[in-house]
Amino acid sequence: MNIYLDNNATTPLAPEVLDAMLPYLKGKFGNPSSIHSAGREAKKALEESRETIAGIVGAASPESICFTGSGSEADNLAIQGAARALRHKGNHIVTSAVEHPAVLNACGALEKEGFHVTYVKPDRTGMVPAEAVAEALRDDTILISVMHANNETGTINPVPEIGKIAKERNILFHTDAVQSLCKVPFTVDELGVDLLSLSAHKVHGPKGVGALYIREGVLLKPLIYGGHQEGSRRAGTENVAGIVGLATAARLSWEGLEKETGRMRAMRDKLERGLLEKIPQIQLNGHPTMRLPNTLNLSFPFVESESLLLELDLKGVAVSSGSACTSGTGEPSHVLLAMGIPHEVCRGALRFSLGRENRPEEIDYVLSVLPEIVERIRAMSPLSA
Ligand SMILES: Cc1ncc(COP(=O)(O)O)c(C=O)c1O
Repeated sequence: MNIYLDNNATTPLAPEVLDAMLPYLKGKFGNPSSIHSAGREAKKALEESRETIAGIVGAASPESICFTGSGSEADNLAIQGAARALRHKGNHIVTSAVEHPAVLNACGALEKEGFHVTYVKPDRTGMVPAEAVAEALRDDTILISVMHANNETGTINPVPEIGKIAKERNILFHTDAVQSLCKVPFTVDELGVDLLSLSAHKVHGPKGVGALYIREGVLLKPLIYGGHQEGSRRAGTENVAGIVGLATAARLSWEGLEKETGRMRAMRDKLERGLLEKIPQIQLNGHPTMRLPNTLNLSFPFVESESLLLELDLKGVAVSSGSACTSGTGEPSHVLLAMGIPHEVCRGALRFSLGRENRPEEIDYVLSVLPEIVERIRAMSPLSA
């Protein structure tokens, strides 16, 4: 058995995506900034990809899409770029305590430059309440950044409500939609955002390519200086094959959204119900309904998640004990701690994140092996009664 249930960490490259990318790694090698025909061929692929991504997020114009080297870079460009461009207006930023490290550490870097950052706490389900965001605003707030869906719990934030508040107060609003892209339908206007981050490798595209939606008229200070690529917002010869991969992957996932999310939700719900029934004292970390259809985060008290993860790995099942970025540090997840989950309960958290390659029999298999693993580890634990 080889069962991959860690799709929020990354997803396998879709074969169609590889096929679309290969010509740009082989014969079609032109530089999109060159004016000869090889360059124009690459430029055409780049601009078609921009149109595809603009169409998927509902951007008014393809120029609103700026390709980046990752979702992390898109987050950093949004946050550092906006803060530095708006410094003359104020120096306060509002974000949440459950953001991805790409947002939290970008904010941390800005704090060292003299910006003030308020980290709004989520509720017990991991949701960042719009009222709490409103309360955190000050006269000198220049930017709000609240993620669309959390990578660890899958909880979906009330981004449209926060967008309305941001608009009323005339404050720039960024959302990290890396996990929600093609898992829940949205457009930038429905969300009411000015800036939105994406990443290819969460939707069966290649690693190392992302994009930032930038609403028309929003000015950002670049992170990288050089040539005039990407409307002078991100210098560097574009990763044409990667960008073609991003657009192809996003289009395929977008086309399959309704069917796939229905299928994934049914399997995720079966896994959730089955584990809650079979294993005593486990608890759901995340919102019961306002959650990505593929994500299940459960705490198994009296068990260290690392032991569970390794035992499952021996049975051929790949899951995560948190986000790929914080696991391995031995620290409990900042997301679960911010939700008010006790330290020892956080230490027994496992995240199952399904993808379009999963099959119902794989869920049956996990349901058949995990209860016994938990029982065995608990029997050895001095903490369990
Ligand atoms: C919510 C969220 N934001 C940003 C990122 C970073 O994306 P990338 O891996 O493309 O840098 C991730 C990846 O784990 C994520 O889950």
